[in-house]
Amino acid sequence: MGVTSSDLYDETDAQRYDEDNVSVSTPEVLNPMLDVLAELAHAGKVLEFASGTGRITVPLVNRGLDVAGIELSPHMTAKLREKMPPGRLPVVVGDMATATAPDVGNYSLVFLVFNTISNLRTQAEQVACFRNAARHLRPGGRFLIELWVPQLQRMAPDLHLAPVQFETNGHLVFDTYDLASQECMSHHYRPQPDGSVRYGSGRFRYLWAPECDLMAQLAGLELESRWADWSRSPFTSASPSHVSIWRKPEH
Ligand SMILES: C[S@@+](CC[C@H](N)C(=O)[O-])C[C@H]1O[C@@H](n2cnc3c(N)ncnc32)[C@H](O)[C@@H]1O
Repeated sequence: MGVTSSDLYDETDAQRYDEDNVSVSTPEVLNPMLDVLAELAHAGKVLEFASGTGRITVPLVNRGLDVAGIELSPHMTAKLREKMPPGRLPVVVGDMATATAPDVGNYSLVFLVFNTISNLRTQAEQVACFRNAARHLRPGGRFLIELWVPQLQRMAPDLHLAPVQFETNGHLVFDTYDLASQECMSHHYRPQPDGSVRYGSGRFRYLWAPECDLMAQLAGLELESRWADWSRSPFTSASPSHVSIWRKPEH
């Protein structure tokens, strides 16, 4: 596989990431996630694809887990390094669709959260990512994904645009969709203290849970659980996102 289709998080993105994501870095948000991940790890090795600045991996290591990461951006990894040294949390800077972490084949859990499978913007790379996860797992190990459900029902049809989020701090998000190619672009508008608005965008390939299941099947993985959230609520047609877990067969 050649060069990744993912947008690269540059130094500015890395500098802003933790501050922009304060609302999803609180103990109230993180603890239910960390509880599930720790339980699924069964005290074995854990690998995060797209480990970023360590929002999840650093607290997992602090809970005593044996964790590694694969992350495309050296800038995001440099921010993680300000929090934890490589001896405690090894990170391979590379593409999660192709890169190899130490102890490949020995992980009890590989996880990919915060919708990041969609940062791979071709179907072929998303399939490769599932295969790469399966390759890293020990027999009986699990691959977990947290992914939003494309909100096409919210779309203004003539505009191909859907409102996604409006937070009390004024942070506004719209997504634009190209239905033919399954491409999506998120547009973020963040009010600044000086009264200006900072615009940022990200490009994604959206996919539904059943397409994930097909990719898992191609990678030799079997669906074990699908929840609407980290407290294991049932996934329904109204659920805006899902947490899905596939298992690598023992034999
Ligand atoms: C929304 S952030 C999530 C970071 C972290 N998982 C978290 O939950 O805070 C997305 C991350 O995915 C990384 N990323 C994007 N494409 C990638 C790829 N092909 N391989 C590895 N990492 C990738 C970005 O550099 C960025 O750090």
